[in-house]
Amino acid sequence: MQEHVTLTIDGAQISAVKGTSVLDTAMEFGICIPHLCHYAGLSDVGACRLCIVEHVVNGRSKVTTSCRLNVAEGMVILTDTEKIRRLRRNIAELLVAQAPNSRAVQDIAVRCGVREVRYPFHNDNCVRCGRCVRVCSEMWQADAIGFIGRGKDRHVDFPFGRKPDFCKTCNTCIDICAMTITPCPGPMKQGEERLCSACEGQLMMTTNFTDSCVWCEMGRCFGCTRQLQTAAHQ
Ligand code: FES
Repeated sequence: MQEHVTLTIDGAQISAVKGTSVLDTAMEFGICIPHLCHYAGLSDVGACRLCIVEHVVNGRSKVTTSCRLNVAEGMVILTDTEKIRRLRRNIAELLVAQAPNSRAVQDIAVRCGVREVRYPFHNDNCVRCGRCVRVCSEMWQADAIGFIGRGKDRHVDFPFGRKPDFCKTCNTCIDICAMTITPCPGPMKQGEERLCSACEGQLMMTTNFTDSCVWCEMGRCFGCTRQLQTAAHQ
């Protein structure tokens, strides 16, 4: 039988299944925590850091990633404080600087309140979230791709740069990649470090409320639930 714990997220008392993450629990209860490297069914590695929350213990709070934090009895979590919003905006800005031609990343940044990017663009087309690597390893047990190199040279590639025979050519790594979801058409050059006007304000979440948000695949993150509720009351 499943064991439950009671915790508080943004003042709401929630009964959650022991062993689940704070991020999954929050999403299940319609509390929006932005995230990128998390993907349902895959392990969490805490790579993007967008899902940070404040974990309050004995009156002191610690900023931590909610995808890597499991629920516990009496836990107090704050997901939307000024401190978290400021830190998250900065993280989203860095993600845009790393992959400015990803509409998905631009979209995340807009939703996190970014209006300008203060960092030079790298045009990496990869934010090292590792979704592709994990899906290949954990869903297909193929391990056909992995992280190669260190520091700024760290990137995803085939072993020795050659596609191995054991790659199933399933393309799940491409389907799951945050960068391949609609490239941004806007001008992204050094010296033009800003959010693309073609993306700003045009959220990738569908506005007809029939499809789910591209991030949570459940239609519950980034305010989808709140927007759904708003729509229901119109
Ligand atoms: S979703 Fe938690 S660190 Fe990326």
